Amino acid sequence: MDAAGWDARYADAPMVWSAGPNALFASVVADWTPGRALDVASGEGRTAIWLASRGWQVRAVDFSAVGVDKGRERAAAQGLSVDWVVDDVTAAELGSGFDLVALLYLQLEHAQQAAVVSRCVQALAPGGRLVVVAHDLDNLEQGVGGPQDPSVLPTVELLRYWAREAHVERAEQVHRQTEAGTAIDVLMVARR
Ligand SMILES: C[S@@+](CC[C@H](N)C(=O)[O-])C[C@H]1O[C@@H](n2cnc3c(N)ncnc32)[C@H](O)[C@@H]1O
Repeated sequence: MDAAGWDARYADAPMVWSAGPNALFASVVADWTPGRALDVASGEGRTAIWLASRGWQVRAVDFSAVGVDKGRERAAAQGLSVDWVVDDVTAAELGSGFDLVALLYLQLEHAQQAAVVSRCVQALAPGGRLVVVAHDLDNLEQGVGGPQDPSVLPTVELLRYWAREAHVERAEQVHRQTEAGTAIDVLMVARR
């Protein structure tokens, strides 16, 4: 979906995603010492806002101006500061020296997704970590919800390969309970 499509989706509902963070992401990052964080494809800002509330200095990038505006407004209402950027994460200058890069549920075709994961690794400071959460390819046949197009769904093996310039600390499927049933996500944590 292009930026206009995401703008329309975000304009159509008060919140498309949860206000709070993805539970898996939060459980992984909760104990980490706050530093500089980059939220890639930040949507309505749930990850960026949660990180900022925990003392992280956050930049959030998404090509949907409507999504970014929703994040900006929610952060301001909570008195939180986030550097909001409207841009295409496949081409934008993302910055460098981040202690944490978060990449949650970015739905791009594999070649583009591989390039974005590599760009995320390059944005890390030495010792910094990339955390990826996505719908796993197996979710198509064995899970519920999520995109139904296999060309945008990664696997543990693909993520490991895409992040090969970093040291992969975790790469695994994780089951997520939803009202409709069990969804299958993939989690990767990679350290530069
Ligand atoms: C499924 S949503 C996930 C949003 C957010 N990461 C979250 O978990 O709440 C996917 C997001 O990717 C963004 N996106 C897709 N392609 C993009 C691109 N090339 N550049 C920037 N953002 C993109 C969309 O605008 C959308 O906000």
